[in-house]
Amino acid sequence: MEGLYDVIHRRRDVRAEFTGEAVDPEVLDRILAAAHAAPSVGLSQPWDFVIVRSDTVRKAFHEHVRTERDVFAATLSGEAAARFARIKIDGVLEAGLSIVVTYDPARGGPAVLGRHAIADAGLYSVCLAIQNLWLSATAEGLGVGWVSFYREEFLGELLGIPAGIRPVAWLCVGPVSHLETVPDLERHGWRRRRPVSEAIHEDRWNG
Ligand SMILES: Cc1cc2nc3c(=O)[nH]c(=O)nc-3n(C[C@H](O)[C@H](O)[C@H](O)COP(=O)(O)O)c2cc1C
Repeated sequence: MEGLYDVIHRRRDVRAEFTGEAVDPEVLDRILAAAHAAPSVGLSQPWDFVIVRSDTVRKAFHEHVRTERDVFAATLSGEAAARFARIKIDGVLEAGLSIVVTYDPARGGPAVLGRHAIADAGLYSVCLAIQNLWLSATAEGLGVGWVSFYREEFLGELLGIPAGIRPVAWLCVGPVSHLETVPDLERHGWRRRRPVSEAIHEDRWNG
């Protein structure tokens, strides 16, 4: 029990701490099996995992991420712009490998049990697989960094993902020097975590 909570609280989004060492194939199998064990709406298991090791693909993606970083930076000014300039937003070139997690809305269809009223339930399922992967990687001593500075069309084309299947996350995965104890965005003064007590409501939103 203690081990699980320890992993949950030690997990970090990693950008700067990747050592560049390879991921042990057996460990990779274990974290993918953990991801695949996630709950999913209607048992649809709508995820797939594309393991990216190619330098050419990683460099092309990294270039795209830099462009999207500039797009976001252009929306900022003053203090926020200065803060953002100091924040590293990916470890694409440094991590041992990357895993792109996708969502296939057609998987398990047409009648996906539990999704008729909430289409997003399929996407929620993919995010649970990602969280399983993230926590098991942390337990294995690896770091994970979620990169979302990309356009889905670009990544779809780069990886030859079939039409209709959405890339949900580019995850940088690999051995790390250490895990920070405070999230990067908090360390850089971008945003603070709020206390759990503020997130809890009783009976009604304002109850
Ligand atoms: C859906 C999602 C997308 C994210 N995209 C990025 C990203 O593009 N670049 C980045 O540096 N961190 C990204 N993150 C990491 C968050 O910034 C991070 O989880 C948050 O600041 C809390 O830090 P922690 O994960 O270390 O606790 C993303 C996280 C999630 C859940």
